[in-house]
Amino acid sequence: MPPVASAGPRSSSSDPARNSAADYVARLDRWLADRTSASGLDVADGTPPMFHPCTPRGMEPADRIVVSPPAQYSAVDGMPTDWHPVHLGGRAVGGAGLAMTETTCTSPDARITPGCPGIGNDEQAAAWARTVDFVHANSDAKIGVQLGHAGRGGSTKVMWQGVDDPRRGRLGDRRPVAGPPPVRRRGPAGDDARRHGTGDRRPRRRRPTRGDRIPQETGVPTMTVGAIASAEDANTIIAAGRAALCCLARPHLVDPYRTLDAAIEQDYRGHVPPKRYRPGRGARRRAQEP
Ligand SMILES: Cc1cc2nc3c(=O)[nH]c(=O)nc-3n(C[C@H](O)[C@H](O)[C@H](O)COP(=O)(O)O)c2cc1C
Repeated sequence: MPPVASAGPRSSSSDPARNSAADYVARLDRWLADRTSASGLDVADGTPPMFHPCTPRGMEPADRIVVSPPAQYSAVDGMPTDWHPVHLGGRAVGGAGLAMTETTCTSPDARITPGCPGIGNDEQAAAWARTVDFVHANSDAKIGVQLGHAGRGGSTKVMWQGVDDPRRGRLGDRRPVAGPPPVRRRGPAGDDARRHGTGDRRPRRRRPTRGDRIPQETGVPTMTVGAIASAEDANTIIAAGRAALCCLARPHLVDPYRTLDAAIEQDYRGHVPPKRYRPGRGARRRAQEP
């Protein structure tokens, strides 16, 4: 992942255009550090934007990369299985600041598919505790639960079996239900942090969206999601103030170590891998030396 406004040594060159670009990036880095410091958070000059501290609702994630909820269809009768600590624990160890569970339901009839997990009884809660404890014991990541209710959108199949379309009446026994009330309220938009789309499914062709206006016009921090493919994308979104946090779903499905990689590639040393993986960082750094 190529860095954009990033830290690291900048060599001076005899090429005036190159020197002027380096100077511009250095000034941008300084301006960003001042912006973060102004909100009362310490940040070293030149820290890549994705590693700037932030405190949505008092939570202090180690970085601004979020594992966006990806349904895993791996629960059995609502019970999380071994897959869940492996999946969420792996992404937490891989350096994301916050790992979100997939849609998790409070009752069996709320499930989107038979493979969706629940958190509606003590047994299920205890199974989730195993994942949460692993994440806290082995990484700096925070972990969050996405509570959901399928309503009439429920399906009787998991993703790889094809999906029923309840609007065509194949699930006639499902009736619309009222969604859960908002859990928390704060700020002009009523949210602690709101997730909005980046505006495009294709990387690098992103347009401004209405979601961009939320942080800028209300001060409510947002998470943005959709086709964020690289550290460069995340740095640019955060530096521009379009969102406080960047959520990645599909990139994390194939690369749990997205954030760990990004820190190494930007030569940012403030993001520390889990102790068991530290020797890998040194080896990677040497391998990428010119
Ligand atoms: C297989 C799969 C399962 C998903 N499950 C959920 C889910 O349970 N809850 C949710 O809010 N979004 C879900 N999403 C949407 C993602 O969180 C994300 O918003 C979307 O994939 C766009 O982000 P991306 O371009 O980084 O993949 C899912 C996406 C995928 C690909």
